Amino acid sequence: MDFKLNIIVEYLPFFLRGTLITIGVSLAGIFIGMVLGLFIGMGKMAKSWIIKLPFVWYVNFFRGTPLLVQLFIIHFAVMPSGSSTIASLIVTLSLNSAAYVAEIFRAGIKSIDRGQAEAAHSLGMNKVQVMRYVVLPQASKRMIPPLGNEFIVLLKDSSLGAIIAAPELLYWGRAATGQYYRVWEPYLTVALIYLMLTLSLTYVLNYVERRLDTE
Ligand code: ARG
Repeated sequence: MDFKLNIIVEYLPFFLRGTLITIGVSLAGIFIGMVLGLFIGMGKMAKSWIIKLPFVWYVNFFRGTPLLVQLFIIHFAVMPSGSSTIASLIVTLSLNSAAYVAEIFRAGIKSIDRGQAEAAHSLGMNKVQVMRYVVLPQASKRMIPPLGNEFIVLLKDSSLGAIIAAPELLYWGRAATGQYYRVWEPYLTVALIYLMLTLSLTYVLNYVERRLDTE
Protein backbone atom coordinates (compact mmCIF):
# COMPACT_ATOMS: atom_id res chain seq x y z
CA MET A 1 0.00 0.00 0.00
CA ASP A 2 1.48 3.31 -1.00
CA PHE A 3 0.92 6.21 1.30
CA LYS A 4 0.77 9.58 -0.46
CA LEU A 5 2.26 11.94 2.03
CA ASN A 6 1.89 14.93 -0.28
CA ILE A 7 -1.90 14.88 0.15
CA ILE A 8 -1.47 15.34 3.88
CA VAL A 9 1.11 18.06 3.37
CA GLU A 10 -1.17 19.91 0.97
CA TYR A 11 -4.14 19.68 3.32
CA LEU A 12 -2.20 20.43 6.48
CA PRO A 13 -3.28 24.10 6.69
CA PHE A 14 -6.91 23.02 6.29
CA PHE A 15 -6.57 20.29 8.90
CA LEU A 16 -5.10 22.88 11.24
CA ARG A 17 -7.94 25.29 10.62
CA GLY A 18 -10.43 22.45 11.11
CA THR A 19 -8.73 21.45 14.34
CA LEU A 20 -9.07 24.98 15.69
CA ILE A 21 -12.77 24.99 14.83
CA THR A 22 -13.21 21.56 16.42
CA ILE A 23 -11.56 22.85 19.61
CA GLY A 24 -13.60 26.07 19.61
CA VAL A 25 -16.90 24.32 18.96
CA SER A 26 -16.20 21.74 21.68
CA LEU A 27 -15.20 24.33 24.26
CA ALA A 28 -18.29 26.40 23.53
CA GLY A 29 -20.46 23.28 23.57
CA ILE A 30 -19.23 21.93 26.89
CA PHE A 31 -19.33 25.38 28.50
CA ILE A 32 -22.89 26.23 27.46
CA GLY A 33 -23.89 22.62 28.09
CA MET A 34 -22.61 22.79 31.65
CA VAL A 35 -24.42 26.04 32.44
CA LEU A 36 -27.69 24.76 30.94
CA GLY A 37 -27.15 21.33 32.46
CA LEU A 38 -26.82 22.71 35.98
CA PHE A 39 -30.10 24.52 35.53
CA ILE A 40 -31.87 21.47 34.10
CA GLY A 41 -30.40 19.22 36.78
CA MET A 42 -31.78 21.51 39.47
CA GLY A 43 -35.14 21.58 37.71
CA LYS A 44 -35.22 17.80 37.72
CA MET A 45 -34.63 17.79 41.46
CA ALA A 46 -37.68 19.97 42.17
CA LYS A 47 -40.21 18.49 44.55
CA SER A 48 -43.33 19.24 42.54
CA TRP A 49 -43.86 16.95 39.56
CA ILE A 50 -45.34 19.72 37.44
CA ILE A 51 -42.13 21.76 37.69
CA LYS A 52 -40.07 18.63 37.14
CA LEU A 53 -41.95 17.54 34.02
CA PRO A 54 -40.42 19.84 31.35
CA PHE A 55 -36.91 19.10 32.61
CA VAL A 56 -37.53 15.38 32.66
CA TRP A 57 -38.75 15.53 29.07
CA TYR A 58 -35.88 17.71 28.00
CA VAL A 59 -33.48 14.99 29.14
CA ASN A 60 -35.67 12.24 27.68
CA PHE A 61 -35.67 13.91 24.27
CA PHE A 62 -32.01 14.86 24.00
CA ARG A 63 -30.78 11.59 25.44
CA GLY A 64 -33.28 9.44 23.60
CA THR A 65 -32.85 10.63 20.02
CA PRO A 66 -29.71 10.45 17.88
CA LEU A 67 -27.44 13.45 17.94
CA LEU A 68 -27.34 13.48 14.13
CA VAL A 69 -31.12 13.76 13.96
CA GLN A 70 -31.03 16.60 16.48
CA LEU A 71 -28.39 18.33 14.37
CA PHE A 72 -30.61 18.07 11.26
CA ILE A 73 -33.67 19.36 13.11
CA ILE A 74 -31.79 22.27 14.62
CA HIS A 75 -29.87 23.21 11.50
CA PHE A 76 -32.64 22.84 8.93
CA ALA A 77 -35.75 23.60 10.97
CA VAL A 78 -35.00 25.55 14.11
CA MET A 79 -32.18 27.91 13.16
CA PRO A 80 -33.08 30.73 10.76
CA SER A 81 -32.32 29.65 7.19
CA GLY A 82 -28.89 30.71 6.04
CA SER A 83 -27.45 30.72 9.53
CA SER A 84 -23.94 29.40 9.99
CA THR A 85 -23.37 25.67 10.20
CA ILE A 86 -20.91 26.24 13.02
CA ALA A 87 -23.59 28.02 15.05
CA SER A 88 -26.00 25.13 14.48
CA LEU A 89 -23.32 22.68 15.54
CA ILE A 90 -22.58 24.59 18.74
CA VAL A 91 -26.28 24.91 19.60
CA THR A 92 -26.90 21.20 19.01
CA LEU A 93 -23.87 20.03 20.99
CA SER A 94 -24.72 22.37 23.86
CA LEU A 95 -28.35 21.28 24.07
CA ASN A 96 -27.43 17.61 23.81
CA SER A 97 -24.64 17.86 26.34
CA ALA A 98 -26.88 19.75 28.78
CA ALA A 99 -29.08 16.67 29.09
CA TYR A 100 -26.12 14.50 30.09
CA VAL A 101 -24.61 17.18 32.36
CA ALA A 102 -27.97 17.51 34.13
CA GLU A 103 -27.78 13.83 35.07
CA ILE A 104 -24.13 14.08 36.10
CA PHE A 105 -24.98 17.02 38.34
CA ARG A 106 -27.97 15.26 39.87
CA ALA A 107 -26.01 12.07 40.46
CA GLY A 108 -23.18 14.05 42.10
CA ILE A 109 -25.53 15.72 44.55
CA LYS A 110 -27.47 12.55 45.29
CA SER A 111 -24.23 10.70 46.00
CA ILE A 112 -23.59 12.75 49.13
CA ASP A 113 -25.12 10.95 52.06
CA ARG A 114 -28.29 12.55 53.48
CA GLY A 115 -26.83 12.32 56.96
CA GLN A 116 -24.33 15.04 56.11
CA ALA A 117 -27.04 17.54 55.20
CA GLU A 118 -28.99 16.55 58.30
CA ALA A 119 -25.92 17.03 60.49
CA ALA A 120 -25.27 20.45 58.94
CA HIS A 121 -28.91 21.41 59.49
CA SER A 122 -28.65 20.42 63.11
CA LEU A 123 -25.65 22.76 63.46
CA GLY A 124 -27.94 25.60 62.45
CA MET A 125 -27.07 25.94 58.76
CA ASN A 126 -29.85 26.92 56.40
CA LYS A 127 -30.56 25.16 53.08
CA VAL A 128 -28.29 27.40 51.01
CA GLN A 129 -25.41 27.07 53.47
CA VAL A 130 -25.76 23.29 53.54
CA MET A 131 -25.51 23.22 49.74
CA ARG A 132 -22.71 25.75 49.59
CA TYR A 133 -20.45 24.46 52.36
CA VAL A 134 -21.26 20.78 52.73
CA VAL A 135 -22.84 19.19 49.67
CA LEU A 136 -21.44 21.07 46.64
CA PRO A 137 -17.72 20.96 47.57
CA GLN A 138 -17.89 17.17 47.82
CA ALA A 139 -20.29 16.66 44.94
CA SER A 140 -18.30 18.82 42.52
CA LYS A 141 -15.23 16.65 43.06
CA ARG A 142 -17.21 13.55 42.15
CA MET A 143 -18.56 15.28 39.06
CA ILE A 144 -15.13 15.90 37.53
CA PRO A 145 -14.51 12.43 36.03
CA PRO A 146 -17.93 12.10 34.36
CA LEU A 147 -17.76 15.71 33.15
CA GLY A 148 -14.38 14.99 31.63
CA ASN A 149 -15.87 11.97 29.95
CA GLU A 150 -18.65 14.16 28.62
CA PHE A 151 -16.13 16.63 27.19
CA ILE A 152 -14.30 13.84 25.34
CA VAL A 153 -17.56 12.47 23.92
CA LEU A 154 -18.60 15.95 22.83
CA LEU A 155 -15.26 16.61 21.14
CA LYS A 156 -15.55 13.43 19.10
CA ASP A 157 -19.24 13.98 18.34
CA SER A 158 -18.45 17.44 16.97
CA SER A 159 -17.29 15.48 13.89
CA LEU A 160 -20.98 15.04 12.99
CA GLY A 161 -20.76 18.68 11.92
CA ALA A 162 -19.07 17.44 8.73
CA ILE A 163 -22.47 16.16 7.56
CA ILE A 164 -23.94 19.67 7.51
CA ALA A 165 -20.65 21.04 6.08
CA ALA A 166 -19.47 22.80 9.22
CA PRO A 167 -15.76 23.20 8.42
CA GLU A 168 -14.41 21.32 11.42
CA LEU A 169 -11.71 18.65 11.32
CA LEU A 170 -13.55 15.75 9.69
CA TYR A 171 -15.04 18.10 7.07
CA TRP A 172 -11.54 18.71 5.72
CA GLY A 173 -10.77 15.00 5.80
CA ARG A 174 -13.81 14.38 3.63
CA ALA A 175 -12.79 17.23 1.34
CA ALA A 176 -9.36 15.66 0.80
CA THR A 177 -10.94 12.27 0.15
CA GLY A 178 -13.33 13.84 -2.34
CA GLN A 179 -10.54 15.56 -4.23
CA TYR A 180 -8.05 12.68 -4.45
CA TYR A 181 -10.24 9.57 -4.07
CA ARG A 182 -7.86 8.51 -1.33
CA VAL A 183 -9.20 7.23 1.96
CA TRP A 184 -6.31 6.17 4.15
CA GLU A 185 -4.27 9.35 4.16
CA PRO A 186 -6.93 11.91 5.09
CA TYR A 187 -8.91 9.78 7.52
CA LEU A 188 -5.87 8.38 9.32
CA THR A 189 -4.52 11.90 9.74
CA VAL A 190 -7.86 13.12 11.02
CA ALA A 191 -8.10 10.18 13.44
CA LEU A 192 -4.61 10.90 14.70
CA ILE A 193 -5.44 14.55 15.33
CA TYR A 194 -8.62 13.59 17.25
CA LEU A 195 -6.55 11.13 19.26
CA MET A 196 -4.01 13.82 20.11
CA LEU A 197 -6.81 16.12 21.24
CA THR A 198 -8.53 13.54 23.43
CA LEU A 199 -5.23 12.32 24.91
CA SER A 200 -4.26 15.88 25.85
CA LEU A 201 -7.64 16.29 27.44
CA THR A 202 -7.24 13.04 29.38
CA TYR A 203 -3.89 14.27 30.60
CA VAL A 204 -5.32 17.59 31.82
CA LEU A 205 -8.24 15.81 33.50
CA ASN A 206 -5.95 13.38 35.30
CA TYR A 207 -3.93 16.32 36.53
CA VAL A 208 -7.02 18.11 37.86
CA GLU A 209 -8.20 14.94 39.57
CA ARG A 210 -4.86 14.40 41.24
CA ARG A 211 -4.80 17.99 42.46
CA LEU A 212 -8.27 17.70 43.96
CA ASP A 213 -7.43 14.39 45.62
CA THR A 214 -4.72 15.79 47.83
CA GLU A 215 -6.78 18.29 49.77
N1 ARG B 1 -23.54 9.36 19.80
C1 ARG B 1 -24.73 9.63 20.53
C2 ARG B 1 -25.91 9.83 19.63
O1 ARG B 1 -25.84 9.61 18.46
C3 ARG B 1 -24.56 10.85 21.35
C4 ARG B 1 -23.87 10.53 22.59
C5 ARG B 1 -23.85 11.67 23.48
N2 ARG B 1 -23.36 11.16 24.70
C6 ARG B 1 -22.94 11.95 25.65
N3 ARG B 1 -22.48 11.42 26.74
N4 ARG B 1 -22.99 13.24 25.49
O2 ARG B 1 -26.95 10.22 20.08
